[in-house]
Amino acid sequence: MHDPVTRDLPADKAARYAALKQEIDAVLDGEHNATARYASAASLLAQAFPDRFFWTGFYLVDPEKPQELVVGPYQGTLGCLRIPFGKGVCGAAAAERKTIIVPDVHAFPGHIACDSRSNSEIVAPVIDARGVLHGVLDVDSTQFDAFDEADRAGLEAICATLAL
Ligand code: SME
Repeated sequence: MHDPVTRDLPADKAARYAALKQEIDAVLDGEHNATARYASAASLLAQAFPDRFFWTGFYLVDPEKPQELVVGPYQGTLGCLRIPFGKGVCGAAAAERKTIIVPDVHAFPGHIACDSRSNSEIVAPVIDARGVLHGVLDVDSTQFDAFDEADRAGLEAICATLAL
């Protein structure tokens, strides 16, 4: 049985992300199934920051509708099922292929409120080694202004090796 190192993650945010990335890479090593990879990453991410991460999961590009995201593996309350590119924070991050940090989601034009308890969020694109966009990682917090540049760096590093 896998013994998660997440119990012993360091307090410093950057160090915690570095340990978490090692953990995720080790767990996913040799696993090529996309659902297994995203589901395991969502679980480890949510457990690593239980106080700040209220909703943690993936919206994936629908192969049948390449301009639409469909919800993938996540940890948290019910998320909306589909988000068109360009709509909300997830759709904007997918369309722009870049990370977006929103300190107050209520002030973001077109924000999609799946759960009214979410007050801030960060969304990072998941892009494979060939440059193909697979989806986005969405993390929502009940706290305002919960995410900073350390989260951006940490989550982008984790997303960089998720899609095969
Ligand atoms: N807040 C997101 C929608 C997804 S959920 O909150 C789970 C957005 O505006 O993209």
